[in-house]
Amino acid sequence: MSRTIEDQTVEELGGEGSVLVRQRRDHAQMDRLMDRHQALEDGAERERVLRELVQLVFSHAFAEETVLWPAVRRAAADGEELTSRVEEEHQEINDLVTDVERLDPGSAEREEKVLRVFALIRQDIRDEEDLVLPRLQEALDAGRLRRLGAAWETVRGSAPTRPHPVVPRRPPGNAVLGVPLSLYDRLRDGLEPGVSGPWGRRILAGLTGLLVSGAVAVLVRKRS
Ligand SMILES: [Fe+2]
Ligand SMILES: [Fe+2]
Repeated sequence: MSRTIEDQTVEELGGEGSVLVRQRRDHAQMDRLMDRHQALEDGAERERVLRELVQLVFSHAFAEETVLWPAVRRAAADGEELTSRVEEEHQEINDLVTDVERLDPGSAEREEKVLRVFALIRQDIRDEEDLVLPRLQEALDAGRLRRLGAAWETVRGSAPTRPHPVVPRRPPGNAVLGVPLSLYDRLRDGLEPGVSGPWGRRILAGLTGLLVSGAVAVLVRKRS
């Protein structure tokens, strides 16, 4: 019988480096950032908190899709069903955050979408801690949970930090396209706010377009 990872001890979850402990730690940080955003008045600090949350959520989810969900599909009979469900949540978050980035801060429409994003993130956390991650705990011993944790953390450290409509949710497509997009996101993260005017963005977008086309060419060649 699988058990939520929400209230288990670090030892039960496989120790500090275990992927289950690392996941829960990130989820708690997401919760804190959402609470902080809700408590703040409109302004620069509120926008900074939202940006930090988006960066955390997207790098976290990309590494899940690249490293963790394939492991769940290998480990559990219902892995396909469970991971499809969280992939759908990730896609919805991706689409909503894309809209949020286009809308004016302070507008009622943007505020409403931000609240929907927060509700989806909370739902995703519950599905992962109560349904998906317990399957990994059942299938893998502590040593393997820690090795998976190290792999997940490595990918998370160089993953895209923003929504992208072209990124497929599954390997190998997401992994190949993730490299140029991560570079683009991290350059933008470093430049904003202010320095990345329309020209800066155009140059970056051109550079990324070249890299993405290269990645797509590699993918197409692999498939054929
Ligand atoms: Fe997660
Ligand atoms: Fe997730």
